[in-house]
Amino acid sequence: MSQPERILDVRNVHPRERHPLIFRELDALAAGDALVLVNDHDPRPLYYELMAERPGQFDWTPVEQGPGTWSVRIRRLGALGEPRTVAWLREEHRALAPRIDELAVLASRLSPAAWSKESPAVRRALDFLRSHLLPHAHLEEEVIYPAVERGLGAAGAAATMVRDHREVEALTMALAEAAGRADARADEGTVEEAKRLLYSLHALLRVHFAKEEEVYLPVLQRSLTPEEDERAMAVLAAHEGEEA
Ligand SMILES: [Fe+2]
Ligand SMILES: [Fe+2]
Repeated sequence: MSQPERILDVRNVHPRERHPLIFRELDALAAGDALVLVNDHDPRPLYYELMAERPGQFDWTPVEQGPGTWSVRIRRLGALGEPRTVAWLREEHRALAPRIDELAVLASRLSPAAWSKESPAVRRALDFLRSHLLPHAHLEEEVIYPAVERGLGAAGAAATMVRDHREVEALTMALAEAAGRADARADEGTVEEAKRLLYSLHALLRVHFAKEEEVYLPVLQRSLTPEEDERAMAVLAAHEGEEA
């Protein structure tokens, strides 16, 4: 799972010192790592300076756009630029990871007495699993895992990861079923089961994400050809178009 991102807040830095400081910090980033820059004005001039001085080395994603505070996530790309498919997967995980951590927090709050108060949060967790996480897993099976297998030269190598996905599906279905029963009668056994399922999903997903980030991303980074990257992005874009 990704490390928490570094925040570089330059609001109290003398304006003359800001750009040299930012460039030093950015140059020190490892490929794939990012920082969030916080400033008291629109950092557009910095954007143009960065694109001119370090072309193709960073990507730039505005987070907060005033008034008063502007922040932007700046990520260092690989030495020769990162395949867009790798960037897509990294960004998906960055967005999904906090929701996965919430599953354990939610589990810790569950008890028979708290069920009626917490059941909307359980419904939201189920909605996240079914509408965001499982579609993400299916896209990986269609696009990412075949590319990893080609990169490793080992057909079937991703079968263990596909098996994780099936387990996530089964746990999600079991959670939906337990939640339905608890809504009818929040007895100790049913609520305990919902808790256990949420903790199981959390643990499984954290390890699964770590494997994809620590093992699969470097394989893609190394082996994906520009043509494969292009084809993978076309499939991902078509699916995103369907969802929109
Ligand atoms: Fe996955
Ligand atoms: Fe994933």
